[in-house]
Formats: sequence, structure tokens, C-alpha cells
Amino acid sequence: MNEITIVDKQFELYITHEKIMTYVEALADRLNASLRGQDVFFIGILNGAFIFASDLLKLVDLKCRITFVKLASYEGTMSSGKVKRIIGIHEDIKDQTVVVIEDIVDTGITLDHIIRQLRGYEPKEIKIATMFHKPEAYQMDMKLDYVGMEIPDRFVVGYGLDYEGYGRNFQDLYILKET
Ligand code: IMP
Ligand code: MG
Repeated sequence: MNEITIVDKQFELYITHEKIMTYVEALADRLNASLRGQDVFFIGILNGAFIFASDLLKLVDLKCRITFVKLASYEGTMSSGKVKRIIGIHEDIKDQTVVVIEDIVDTGITLDHIIRQLRGYEPKEIKIATMFHKPEAYQMDMKLDYVGMEIPDRFVVGYGLDYEGYGRNFQDLYILKET
């Protein structure tokens, strides 16, 4: 399958699952080396990160707990308008080493919302692991600790990422065709 259509858009094969897995393995090695001996709390961000989190965590050899959270958009009363609130944190992450697992960091705005709220739970430290990152689109200063793969500022689907809710189930990564 070299080309796919999702809703009204055409995508072409960009990175095979096999290739993606070499990056996931490299990332798992880094996590295992740098967090050895620690008690780690992994927090996957739904929906997008479910496939990456699953592949990554099967290769993680650390004492750890795993949970998933979701971001709910709601109209805030603040002038800033839309705020994305984290839902689903029940475990006590106070004083824990937290690793946030994201599918993709684009502008970084979503991640910024997540980190600010997680800080409120007073973890010992927060590290970030993302499968994909678009450095050209990134607007934040926050350092990304573990990046699987940097990609250009173009829209991609598959490996958990969607277009209008579709395409998350594709093993490979597809890129929007330039017309
Ligand atoms: P950010 O807030 O701009 O960093 O965007 C983060 C969110 O936008 C991700 O968690 C994705 O849900 C979505 N997103 C960003 N880029 C893409 C893409 O290329 N394909 C699919 N979703 C994307
Ligand atoms: Mg997402």
C-alpha cells in the first residue's frame, strides 16, 4: 500500500513500520540506560500515543507503572479561551519520576498544557518521550528528552496518528501528498 485515501485526502507511504521500530528500539535503550534503578511513572497521552506507548513499553526494562490520560477541551473562563484539561490521573505521581509519552510534538502547545498541569501534582521530575517531532513547527523552549524521530513540518498519519479520526491503525507512517 503505497498510497491511501483518508476522507478527502491522499497520503503516500513515508516511513515503514520496520524503520519506525528501529527508532523505538533506540529510544527504549536510552530510557533503560538513563533511568536505570529509578521507579518510573509512564503517562501516555491518548488517543494518539497508544501504539507508540505499547511498542516502546514492551522494550522498557525498568521498574515502572503505566497509565494513560486524555486531554479534554473545554471553554475556560479565562481570557485565553480554550484550555485543555487532563483527565484520568488517579494515581499519586507526587515525588515520582514521570515520563510523558506523546505520539507527536508539533507546535508544542499541547505538551505545554500537559506539563503545566502535571507540575501541579508535584512529581520529582517530568521527562518527555515523543515518537515524532516537527522541529520547524516547535514554538516552545522546553527541552524534549527523548525524541524518536524528527520529521519535516508536514501532516502525517498512521502509527497512532489520525486525520479526522481515521488512519490511527496503519502500521506505517504516511505523509500528505503535496498537490
Ligand atoms: P501541537 O500542540 O501543535 O504540538 O500538536 C500536538 C497534537 O496535534 C498531537 O498530539 C496530534 O494530535 C496533532 N498533530 C500534530 N501534527 C500532526 C500530524 O502531522 N498528524 C496528525 N496529528 C498531528
Ligand atoms: Mg495527540
